[in-house]
Amino acid sequence: MSESSSDLLAVRCNGLCKTFFSEAENLEVLRSLDLQIRQGESCAIMGASGSGKSTLLAILGGLERFEKGEVYVDGNNLGALSEKDLPRFRNKSVGFVFQFHYLLKDFTALENVALPAYMCGVSKKDAWEKAGSLLSKMGLSNRADHYPSELSGGERQRAAIARALINAPRIVLADEPTGNLDAANAEAVRSLLFSLPSMTGCSLLVATHDAGLASAADSVYTLSSGRLVRQ
Ligand SMILES: Nc1ncnc2c1ncn2[C@@H]1O[C@H](COP(=O)(O)OP(=O)(O)OP(=O)(O)O)[C@@H](O)[C@H]1O
Ligand SMILES: [Mg+2]
Repeated sequence: MSESSSDLLAVRCNGLCKTFFSEAENLEVLRSLDLQIRQGESCAIMGASGSGKSTLLAILGGLERFEKGEVYVDGNNLGALSEKDLPRFRNKSVGFVFQFHYLLKDFTALENVALPAYMCGVSKKDAWEKAGSLLSKMGLSNRADHYPSELSGGERQRAAIARALINAPRIVLADEPTGNLDAANAEAVRSLLFSLPSMTGCSLLVATHDAGLASAADSVYTLSSGRLVRQ
């Protein structure tokens, strides 16, 4: 489902509420949160540990449901998508980059990058070609046949970014993408991530504790008491 006024917005959240319910307590994590991200814009979200950054990214990526509010991502009304439609939305519209790379250890870098396209029905030849081209854009053409255990931390994270891009998502969601890297690798991943909007036209949303990483974004917010405050 889409609406024309959201066409130029990669993300539009209005009044988003998310509570984790349990017997001991109900934890209100997001309280009427609003957010707009334009197509091609980069945005960073900071905030204390436990403030809800990962929860927000999981909702925008269709990994977590919410009780109240409107959430449109790439023109999809997430509140109205059925469980059956969510995997397609996740595969087509969103690329995920996490703190840990989650590459499959028994597959080479090239295979790891190609698999999400192959699983979406792209032919093996096309998927492998596209994966090779993305790895080369990430500076990894000479590492394509290496297994994750044979790559450095920064190289693994760059392979994970290539994998996030293989299905040409309209938005890349990155959760602490440099949290596990040394300073030099963090810098390489930072510069690569923030080159994505101009490279592919995607939008980028990064959740991070690293003020240096956040400062590279077009807009920076702090998540506090369940809402975003623009810095
Ligand atoms: N599945 C869940 N069930 C219950 N509570 C949860 C669940 N996931 C997260 N929470 C709680 O929701 C709050 C927000 O968690 P979240 O992981 O979004 O925070 P965060 O801002 O990403 O923190 P960090 O900076 O440490 O990564 C935390 O108090 C957390 O314990
Ligand atoms: Mg988190």
